[in-house]
Amino acid sequence: MLPSERDVRYLESLYPPDPDLERVRAGMEAHGMPDIAIRPAYGRLLTLLVAARGARRVLEIGALAGYSAICLARGLPPGGRLISLEKNPDYARVAHAHVAAAGLADRVEIRVGDALTLMPALVAEPPHPSFDLVFIDADKQHYPDYLEWSLRLLRPGGLLVADNALMHGRVADPVDTAPAVEAMRRFNRRVATDPRLVSTMLPAYDGLVLARVREG
Ligand code: DHB
Ligand code: MG
Repeated sequence: MLPSERDVRYLESLYPPDPDLERVRAGMEAHGMPDIAIRPAYGRLLTLLVAARGARRVLEIGALAGYSAICLARGLPPGGRLISLEKNPDYARVAHAHVAAAGLADRVEIRVGDALTLMPALVAEPPHPSFDLVFIDADKQHYPDYLEWSLRLLRPGGLLVADNALMHGRVADPVDTAPAVEAMRRFNRRVATDPRLVSTMLPAYDGLVLARVREG
């Protein structure tokens, strides 16, 4: 059973206002950005996962306006680092402003460019592999490639988190054979069957993938 809007509102009502994230929502609207940032409870899950993993190095693919970057960075210890990759330079500027306004600029680095260029560059950058958690939330047709590079960048025991496994019902609709949908099907099957991963996929939000890289 999926939660009702009333249930979602009830759970959200328990938390105090979050000015740093409200600023991101307002900034997205002011800049005419698509309203596709993650929801508040999802953001709290990211903070929890980073903290529970004890992650010190986190990688994000797709910064948009910095909402999830703020949530990920909040879980880091002092001296921890989030590297967030964003293709659109305007989005990257907006994201950086929101991260700075949230007081997290010291632990977040936004790199502008195509993740399929920037991820191989990270593989070549010591220390390697160094990431404790990777969050994928970017262009859907490249998810299988992002997965490959993530598996090279994640340490044993590292966590992979990915948004939009269901693409609003399209992935489970056999009639939909759009390239991005087919790519997401390949990504999901790969996550579910790759012997290097222990995973689950929650039918929450738009399909939430959680996986851990096996140790040894
Ligand atoms: C959409 C939603 C997302 O979470 C995303 O990452 C990309 C697109 C959408 O609703 O179109
Ligand atoms: Mg998304």
